[in-house]
Amino acid sequence: MSRFASFWADRLGWEKHLKPFLYKPLPGPLNWSFTLGSLLMLLFVTQVVTGILLAAYYNPSPDHAYQSIGYIMNSVAGGSLIRGLHHYGAAAMVILVAAHLLANLYYGAYKPPRELTWVGGVFLLLMVLGFGFTGYLLPWDQKAYWATVVGTNVAGDVPLIGSFMAGLLRGGPNVSGLTLTRFYSIHVLLLPALTALLIVFHMYMVRLHDISFHEPAGEKDKDRAYLFFPNHSLKAALGFLVVLAVLIALSLASPPTQEAVARTPDPTYLPRPEWYYMWLFKLLTYFEGSTEVVGSLVIPLGLLALLVGLPFMSKSTSQAPSTRPLVLACAAACLVSVVYLTAMGMAESKPYGQVVALPVAKLSPQAVKGLHLWVEKDCAYCHQIMGQGGHRVGPDMSNILAKGRDRKYLVEFIRDPQKAKPLSIMPKYDLTPQQLEELASFLLSLDFEGRATKILTRKEALALTP
Ligand code: HEC
Repeated sequence: MSRFASFWADRLGWEKHLKPFLYKPLPGPLNWSFTLGSLLMLLFVTQVVTGILLAAYYNPSPDHAYQSIGYIMNSVAGGSLIRGLHHYGAAAMVILVAAHLLANLYYGAYKPPRELTWVGGVFLLLMVLGFGFTGYLLPWDQKAYWATVVGTNVAGDVPLIGSFMAGLLRGGPNVSGLTLTRFYSIHVLLLPALTALLIVFHMYMVRLHDISFHEPAGEKDKDRAYLFFPNHSLKAALGFLVVLAVLIALSLASPPTQEAVARTPDPTYLPRPEWYYMWLFKLLTYFEGSTEVVGSLVIPLGLLALLVGLPFMSKSTSQAPSTRPLVLACAAACLVSVVYLTAMGMAESKPYGQVVALPVAKLSPQAVKGLHLWVEKDCAYCHQIMGQGGHRVGPDMSNILAKGRDRKYLVEFIRDPQKAKPLSIMPKYDLTPQQLEELASFLLSLDFEGRATKILTRKEALALTP
């Protein structure tokens, strides 16, 4: 070895520490699902690099954020590709981190002594979701703004400390410029620091307790050493190249778009979260009023508690999938539910306001006028009646009577939703007192108790005469 090489080898502890780290024999040969961890690590580095490049041009203020993204997309050389990589890279991380979790769940990798490896991994999953949530606001367009309004509203649902938490996240009662800077600092300072610490912990745990591998190596592989380097790392690198190629192709073929700038007045704008939050968003729509916190908190936090608690729930150390049918069945049920809710949420982009469900009964002249307003103002953008005709963003209007709402409540609510419910996402319409009365009459006429339901098309509804 040259003097130069031996200087570095000696000072860096090559023989003693680095070499055994790099050439560590693994219980291999390991299949592709075992490369997911390394792959995520490489993707994280890609996100850091593209993130730093973006931060060189991005301006986290409400007056300039939107334009600076436009500038990155149109004027910076390679800007559109870099942003595309960061955008699709984030989605890839969510997918791969979920795959990593599922693979380890399947292989029983959370069993002793690897409980803490698993728990660290669950927290890393939260980091990825946190990056997604905070990063989503930064382009400061309508999509970003409304997803954050919906998302921070969820924090507001927490009993007792909810409004404090929502206020802390937003930097005030509403999503504003302060929220943008707050999210930016969380996104580029807090989360990367926490994530780096967690990665170090996670990797240390993986090395200390070894990769988990429940199947003994086959006879023919017994003597063949499978080393972290080069065998396993090359496999991971190959996987990463494939992912990178897909990300580049996506960024070139369909660069991330920008909607209108945040807070453009548009009463028909439908708030939608990023796709990987869609299932939670959809879940929320099944719970209303006092049960809202079930959808926004009890279920998500319950799931999280189950994930963290998983390694501590059973004393058995057997990792074979066949010995853990209950865990695997629950995991499969959760997975199916999440996929189902996501698909349902996506399907809501279907047309709305094409039909109106009414009870078979005579409508008062005032209620007919209210029906016309209902159709013309596109309330079905967020409300259904008897599960028909619209999106399920807000409550179903066939429940108005069952909930004991009276005329005064309805008029007041529609006149100024944010006054009735400060965090409401329902837009404030420009309606005369008379029109408010008409809408209230219409909603109060939706009494389906013991009555048949008829479905009118939009045209038929507008053709009804008082
Ligand atoms: C952008 C979505 C959206 C649109 C459009 C919308 N709403 Fe709402 N509305 C909601 C949501 C969400 C709620 C539930 C309260 C909340 O969290 O904001 C709600 C609540 C209500 C309530 C109170 C229900 C209750 O039981 O407390 C009434 C009444 C109502 N909306 C009527 C209307 C009418 C009438 C229109 C059309 C003029 C309309 N909404 C348009 C989202 C919307």
